[in-house]
Amino acid sequence: MTTEDAYIIQGGKKLKGEVTLSGAKNAALKMVIAALLFEGKVTLQNVPRIRDLDELLHLFTELGATAEFKDSNTVVIDGTGLKTNTVDLLHGSKIRSTFLLFAPLLRKFKEAHIPNPGGCRIGARPIDRIMNGLKELGGVVDYDHETGYYHARLAGKTQGEYTFEKPSHTGTEFMVMLSVFAEGTVHIHNAALEPEIDDLISFLNEGGALICREGSSIIITGVASLVQKKPYSIVSDRNEAVTFAVLGLITKGDVTVGPIEPTLLDVFVSQVKKSGGGVEIKGTNKIRFFYKGPFKASQIETEPHPGFMTDWQQNWVVLMTQAEGISTVHERVFENRFAFISELQKLGAKIEYDTTPVINPKQYYHFTYDPEKVYKQGIKIYGPQQLHSGVLTVTDLRAGATLAIAALLVPGESIVNGVSILERGYERFVEKVTKLGGEIKRI
Ligand code: EPU
Repeated sequence: MTTEDAYIIQGGKKLKGEVTLSGAKNAALKMVIAALLFEGKVTLQNVPRIRDLDELLHLFTELGATAEFKDSNTVVIDGTGLKTNTVDLLHGSKIRSTFLLFAPLLRKFKEAHIPNPGGCRIGARPIDRIMNGLKELGGVVDYDHETGYYHARLAGKTQGEYTFEKPSHTGTEFMVMLSVFAEGTVHIHNAALEPEIDDLISFLNEGGALICREGSSIIITGVASLVQKKPYSIVSDRNEAVTFAVLGLITKGDVTVGPIEPTLLDVFVSQVKKSGGGVEIKGTNKIRFFYKGPFKASQIETEPHPGFMTDWQQNWVVLMTQAEGISTVHERVFENRFAFISELQKLGAKIEYDTTPVINPKQYYHFTYDPEKVYKQGIKIYGPQQLHSGVLTVTDLRAGATLAIAALLVPGESIVNGVSILERGYERFVEKVTKLGGEIKRI
């Protein structure tokens, strides 16, 4: 039995080889919920076995739905038996995606009760824009501050249109799920563009939905029911691909990731090339990342897709500790995604906050900017810096992978504590790193 929650890592080895990517966490979590909108059974393939998914499927059984794994990555979901419209506080508040359960629960019960969602503490992460969308399409929503529960009602079918003040990834997915059975046609404007959303749309359309994307607008024509005709396989995880790419580059190794549609990583790939990393697109679904000389400093601003993703920023920061010159990263999407910086500083990284104000912050940032608050959204990374081993603590999921990368870079033994946070989103991380020649042990 596991007593600790840590990795012991002997770093300093070049990581080399091929990594088979898992299904995307940020698609899988939504698709298993969307499966509850179907009549009868739904089979999903390439489902990553990660902690967030286990948590969610545990909730399913409490709600009366079934989720049965046919093999390690194929799950069969059946929402026929849904018997309660209230999501349990303990499990429901742990993951960000829980509020998406409003879609199937409102369809079945017309009323539902769901705790304020959790997820990584990388910002306040409110769901105000999303709940406004539900109201705009015909729902009634109240939030009970005492219990921490959202209560929603939707007597009829959704109808009308909704324009997001700023795009929201999960919010867009929610509006889509909510509108599958709409009255007539629902239009969602200023929708997010993440490929995982389009994967969800394909999955729903294969089951009979009528959803069509026109740039940042999504048009949904209501249908009477959804029935799956054949199993659906979830798209590969872009964020996992970036983590292993950085591992290959930073350890002066050579790592190929796949299967992945190379265009999904266009922005990352061009940034790696600009910074002096080696990249080779291999056929239609693999990308090789390899060391080909010293890295150059870079200037990054995070953005939703198709920009440089906020989820890549942490991994990129540790790579830039090895680059020549001063790199900058400005986080625009979440307001607290630099908690890992103090951990990297423990290893000798020279990173400073840059609090120079930006022009028009309300527009520039994707979170709701409060002029009364002090934000630390920019950093300067001075490189190249020789890092040393140490004892680290994971602050959030992507930061977890970043600390593991740092520990695999530096010679000697490092301990990374709190890795169950990393394992919320990375499948078989230890096994994959070991296969590339890394020395890592879970204790
Ligand atoms: N926001 C609001 N109000 C809302 C909705 C969003 O203020 O009603 C703010 C958020 O707080 C954030 C910004 O808008 O500052 C963008 O949030 P968005 O809704 O787009 O993000 P999300 O759906 O909560 C998903 C992923 C994140 C990923 C982002 C960006 C899931 C479960 N999470 O978050 O993934 O970083 O999109 O693509 O899909 C991760 O995998 O580690 C992770 C955090």
